[in-house]
Amino acid sequence: MKIYTDEFDPENLDIEKWLREENSEKLQSLYNYADSLREKTVGDEVHIRGLLEITSFCSRSCMYCGMRKEREINRYRLTREEILESADFAIETGYETLVIQGGEDFKIKVDVIAEIIKNIKAKKDIAITLSLGERKYEELKLWKEAGANRYLLRFETSNMELLKKIHPCLKNSSRTRIDILRELKELGYETGSGVMVGIPGQTYEDLAQDIKLFRELNLHMIGLGPFIPHPATPLGNIDKKIWNMENQVKPDETMVYKVLALTRIIYPGINIPATSALTAINMKHGMTNALRSGANVFMVNITPERYWNNYDIYDTRNENPDLKKITLETVTEQIHSIGRKIGVGRGDSSTFTLK
Ligand code: 5AD
Repeated sequence: MKIYTDEFDPENLDIEKWLREENSEKLQSLYNYADSLREKTVGDEVHIRGLLEITSFCSRSCMYCGMRKEREINRYRLTREEILESADFAIETGYETLVIQGGEDFKIKVDVIAEIIKNIKAKKDIAITLSLGERKYEELKLWKEAGANRYLLRFETSNMELLKKIHPCLKNSSRTRIDILRELKELGYETGSGVMVGIPGQTYEDLAQDIKLFRELNLHMIGLGPFIPHPATPLGNIDKKIWNMENQVKPDETMVYKVLALTRIIYPGINIPATSALTAINMKHGMTNALRSGANVFMVNITPERYWNNYDIYDTRNENPDLKKITLETVTEQIHSIGRKIGVGRGDSSTFTLK
């Protein structure tokens, strides 16, 4: 079946040119095309995931992230019981995927996580997605064997020079996130990655390269969000002049929709969430706009509310009371309002069989 028109055939698609496009009619044609490909390849169902943020401790010093280790902020780590209670809640509510996410916290016990995974799986065979950072191969293997299904690890940018500036390496480690993504695939994880859009220093060429890399790595899920400056981080107070530089990608909403649409076009069968960073910059329409330009997944935060203010990843996350009003009900309503359906089943990526 030929699914592409010549204009959008990935072989001819000038990604960089599209990223620079500003004509709103043309952009609408891009979103519409991505939306039609989404419909043809993954259908009208929007898969809802329950997101549990289990720890805000982090051993890393990422220049963009509000949870970097240097910050003296209140941090939390859920107990085993709290995680299991939240998982019970997720199962009872009907979530078929639980995303267990956290900072790179080396004090979370690897065996306890494995035991928790087994415990949840024994109750119901929901999909378990882990997003716990750059972990050792043996740990990733142990968690896979315990029953975890998916793993999320954004590579943030494919430009290694830029990456070094924003994401200091672990000491004595030459293993990159790209290496880890390959390991995850080899271990049999459904593997997700992604980038931030509009990192200071990110050029249009870099971002086009990121999109191509998604397909080269044959990933199964891609998460994309705008870079949101956090004032308490080194990248939070950069000179505003940078945004006027010709090659600098702007961290705005439109740019994220372009990247979503181009990702769907280049690599049609994957799962793409409308991410929380996007919702944070447009509470009203961020999710539905994303769902109409290529996305087909949404995550609802089910972390106990008492911890919400302590997961200070980007600015506006904490002070925005509206974010707490995003519930399964409000999300369902919005999804129905654009003529889409709530996904039934685990919503595995249709590309998962690809190695
Ligand atoms: N703005 C937007 N996204 C951010 N992330 C971390 N800090 C920021 C920020 N300031 C994203 C990174 C990370 C994910 C968990 O959150 O892409 O991988």
